[in-house]
Amino acid sequence: MKLRPILSLLLIVIFMGSCQQEEPVGPWFGNGVHNGWADQSSVVIWTRLTKNPDMNYGGTPFVPLNVEQRKNLNKSRNRDSIHSAQIPEGLILEDMEGACPGMEGEVRLSYHPEGLSANIVTTGWMSVDPDKNFTIQWELEGLLPGTQYKILIESRNIGDSGVFTSTEGAFKTALEKESIGDLNFCVVTCHDYDRRDDSLGGHRIYPAMASREPDFFVHTGDIEYYDKKNPWAMTEELMRFKWDRLFALPFQREFYANTTSYFMKDDHDALRDDTYPGDWYGTVSFERGIEIFDREQFPSHDKRYKTIRWGKDLQIWIMEGRNYRTRNRMPDGPEKTIWGTEQKEWLFKTLRESNATFRPVISPTPIVGPDRVNKNDNYSNSGYQTEGNEIRAFLNTLENVFLINGDRHWQYVSHPEGTNLWEFSTGAGSDIHAGGWSQEDKRPEHRFLRVKGGFLFGELIRKDDTVMLRFTHCDVDGAIVHVEEFEMGT
Ligand SMILES: [Fe+2]
Repeated sequence: MKLRPILSLLLIVIFMGSCQQEEPVGPWFGNGVHNGWADQSSVVIWTRLTKNPDMNYGGTPFVPLNVEQRKNLNKSRNRDSIHSAQIPEGLILEDMEGACPGMEGEVRLSYHPEGLSANIVTTGWMSVDPDKNFTIQWELEGLLPGTQYKILIESRNIGDSGVFTSTEGAFKTALEKESIGDLNFCVVTCHDYDRRDDSLGGHRIYPAMASREPDFFVHTGDIEYYDKKNPWAMTEELMRFKWDRLFALPFQREFYANTTSYFMKDDHDALRDDTYPGDWYGTVSFERGIEIFDREQFPSHDKRYKTIRWGKDLQIWIMEGRNYRTRNRMPDGPEKTIWGTEQKEWLFKTLRESNATFRPVISPTPIVGPDRVNKNDNYSNSGYQTEGNEIRAFLNTLENVFLINGDRHWQYVSHPEGTNLWEFSTGAGSDIHAGGWSQEDKRPEHRFLRVKGGFLFGELIRKDDTVMLRFTHCDVDGAIVHVEEFEMGT
């Protein structure tokens, strides 16, 4: 274990060396490549062109703000005041710690099933969109199910004929409905740059998850926090700055490039704490915040919810918790909603129709809880009791449906006695980010409670005529802290 400080020191020396070497101006792939929404035949690929190959490790930290200053700047809705209060005079965003500015340029994508390079498909050259933070996306269709794909993205300056540089990645398409086979997946929540637990690498959960070679991973949201310091991101530029920096972290970059991913959002990466339609944060409206997440910084999908069959034994549901909700302050009643009528009816219908052996429903926020009494943002809070009761009553009529949630910064397994309800809270993405519940406050419905960070690991294991779904809570380094197993004969 002593190796880590030595390795970090070595990395600092290497990074400082590379900062001084003056890399040629890009277009580089400082944010790597992401994928999203994979099913049996399609996936969305995302990348961004950057001026430098890596973030600005030696940059200047943002000026801290006190509560009063934050309140006033938020109210002011004035971009220049928000920036000048946090960026020291004479400096620009590119000078700040972690900056990874974008750059115009052209890219082309090549992909093929692993081991079948003769089947390579290469797109034409296309420009990244400077109005969308120099990002670009491709929706690939007609893919083979249950297949590992390799991807290569090349960059060049506009009008150049040669290739400047390239980046690689991989993803796997979902298994066909009839396919039988072992599978595993990881689910995480809540982390940000400031609360990373490896200063140069990023979050330790990423190498820990990678070592388990997940078939896919789900991030339940709060991937970054706009409304936290360094900087308080009350403008679009500062919001983008936070994504550019997070995606440049080596652990994140390596993991996202090579893992089939489903990215969900929650309040802090939509706009701010407990946000809902009509809200503002500084100069940014809720609607614009949603657009930045859904249409620019992450692989896009028209509807923000989807169910994906992963073979005979597993079907997952990805739920959207911000876009369709009513105002949190509304009095509770039949009109008050988080999922919205259309998404809720879709969930009920698709769950009823599904014959998958196990059916995890993944939600950004809890449905069963318990949660703190002072919160009013999710189904386990009294402010959403009417719709929460309706959903819990419906789920209670089904077998082998498992709820997995993010948002809460502690790990738990909740199973109210005499019900079919099981809820697994993944816990925050680092120990420093954990909290919000007391370790001593173990309630009757808690089968497991741990106020620490980590991730949830799911495994589907088939033996002859039985199939098992095992949920393992792991700490931030991947050590096992709790296991629940469910077995079904088929
Ligand atoms: Fe959070």
